[in-house]
Amino acid sequence: MEFKNLRVKPLHKFPQYLIGCCDLLNDEWPRSRTARMLSLEASSDKLPTSLILLDEEVLLGHCKLTPIPSLPNSCFLEAVVIKKSMRGKKLGTHLMRQVEEYCRNVLKLDMIHLSTKGQEQFYAKLGYEVCPPISIFGSSIPTISTGTTSIQKGDSKLAAPCIPGGNPPPPPPPLPSPVPTTASTLKTSKTYMCRHLVGPTK
Ligand SMILES: CC(C)(COP(=O)(O)OP(=O)(O)OC[C@H]1O[C@@H](n2cnc3c(N)ncnc32)[C@H](O)[C@@H]1OP(=O)(O)O)[C@@H](O)C(=O)NCCC(=O)NCCS
Repeated sequence: MEFKNLRVKPLHKFPQYLIGCCDLLNDEWPRSRTARMLSLEASSDKLPTSLILLDEEVLLGHCKLTPIPSLPNSCFLEAVVIKKSMRGKKLGTHLMRQVEEYCRNVLKLDMIHLSTKGQEQFYAKLGYEVCPPISIFGSSIPTISTGTTSIQKGDSKLAAPCIPGGNPPPPPPPLPSPVPTTASTLKTSKTYMCRHLVGPTK
């Protein structure tokens, strides 16, 4: 590759690239600058995290990692983009490999999920396989707030709050199962793909 010093860094550690990132993304997927900046400014050491690809001081690419509440050992990869004039030079491959390292070593995750419409070949070449759709909404363990404490399914030690002098309240109704929202029921035209991060990079 003809690049001098390719690096992948968290955007929130390099806020000087916020506006450039906003332009890079809006050049591909036009959206209000305010909404775009809000999304980029949400980047942090914990998910969501925006990662940027730099060569020396030049911004070449971006991607965003967001949490999947039902799959805490995975994250959802989105907004993968390489600057238009720089595509086809293996920069997307480099970005993805570095992002995987970041997920494995920094975020301690063991899987990456994504969805795509049109870039299936790109991800397949990187070892991603088609998987069932997942939902990035919801929580892994349903929680009922009682006002004084919370009750989590499966934790019998967390009883309902004490009411001095009164009878204990009836038990709560059964909770829905905390399984990932996979869904055969989700209708989507996108292809969902995932890759396990354990083991050597393909
Ligand atoms: C998708 C994208 C990130 C790829 O980046 P890139 O730097 O051009 O990709 P690379 O040069 O690393 O390509 C790696 C391989 O994937 C292939 N590839 C890349 N994009 C492809 C596509 N759209 N269809 C089929 N193959 C593709 C390349 O030909 C190359 O194959 P090879 O290893 O056999 O030579 C870039 O094209 C892009 O930013 N696209 C617009 C935004 C977008 O669609 N992002 C994905 C959202 S899901």
